[in-house]
Amino acid sequence: MVEWTDFERTTIQNIFSKIDHSAVGHQALTRCLVVYPWTQRYFAKFGNLYNAAAIMGNPNVAAHGLTVMRGLENAVKNLDNIKATFSELSVLHSEKLHVDPNNFRLLADCITIVVGATLGSSFTAEVQAALHKFLAVIVSALVQQYH
Ligand code: HEM
Repeated sequence: MVEWTDFERTTIQNIFSKIDHSAVGHQALTRCLVVYPWTQRYFAKFGNLYNAAAIMGNPNVAAHGLTVMRGLENAVKNLDNIKATFSELSVLHSEKLHVDPNNFRLLADCITIVVGATLGSSFTAEVQAALHKFLAVIVSALVQQYH
C-alpha cells in the first residue's frame, strides 16, 4: 500500500479543489495529442485532430479531458485504495482499448505542466513532488492489469 504524508494528502486534495477540472483536463489532453501525436490513434472516433487548433477546438477532446479528470478525482477520494479503484479502468485500457502503457506517463506529465501553469507561484517544488507521486501511483494503477 502507498504511504502518504499529511503534507502529500493535503496538497493533493488542495490542488484538486482549486483547479478548474474541465479546463485542466481539456488543456492537458490537447497538449498530449499535440506533443505526442501517436496518442491520436486511440481517438479516431473523435473526428478532426488534424492540427493543434483543430485538437483544441474539438468538443470530444474537451469532454474526454473532463472524463480523465473525473477519474483522477475519484482517486483523490480513495487515496488509500487507488489500485482497487482503478482496477476496472486498467482492464479497459489494456484489454479493450489496447493503449500502450507508456502513454500514461506522457499524459500524466501534460497534467503536471498544466496544473503547474495554473497554480503559478504556489506550485513549489514540494507541491510538484506530491503531485508527481500521486500521478506515478495513478500510472502504476493503470498498468496493473497489463500482462
Ligand atoms: C477512457 C481515465 C490515460 C485513452 C477513459 C475513461 C477514463 C479514463 C475515466 C472513461 C472510462 C469509461 O468510460 O468507463 C484515464 C486516466 C488516464 C488515462 C486517469 C491517465 C492519467 C489514457 C491515455 C490514453 C487513453 C494515455 C491514450 C493515449 C482512452 C480512450 C478511452 C479512455 C481511447 C475511451 C474513450 C471513448 O470511448 O470515449 N480513460 N485515461 N487514456 N481512455 Fe483513458
